[in-house]
Amino acid sequence: MPQISYVSADGDTTVVTAEVGDSVMSAALRHGVAGIIGECGGNNSCATCHVWVRDPFRGLVGQPGDLEADIIDLGVAEPRDCSRLGCQIILNDELDGLVVDVPPTQY
Ligand code: FES
Repeated sequence: MPQISYVSADGDTTVVTAEVGDSVMSAALRHGVAGIIGECGGNNSCATCHVWVRDPFRGLVGQPGDLEADIIDLGVAEPRDCSRLGCQIILNDELDGLVVDVPPTQY
């Protein structure tokens, strides 16, 4: 089962053991990770699940699709090259150890 670390803006880290097939967003919500909202329920339309993916996992996680990239450009406060929507990152064993930063705000 993949372990995911969510690092808050003030440096607090919440480590979650997720299920294969969870998304970064759904695992966060189930474990009460602060700062991940997931307002649209994972439908790639609200951008309230924005995270910054740390190296060396950026390559494994991959780039956002076209719609996701548009949502990031239009909907997040601080888009970066490592921005992804947590609901669009589906977890597998390869992503065990993934570290993501949670932005200080989702709006
Ligand atoms: Fe809405 Fe991810 S939960 S875009």
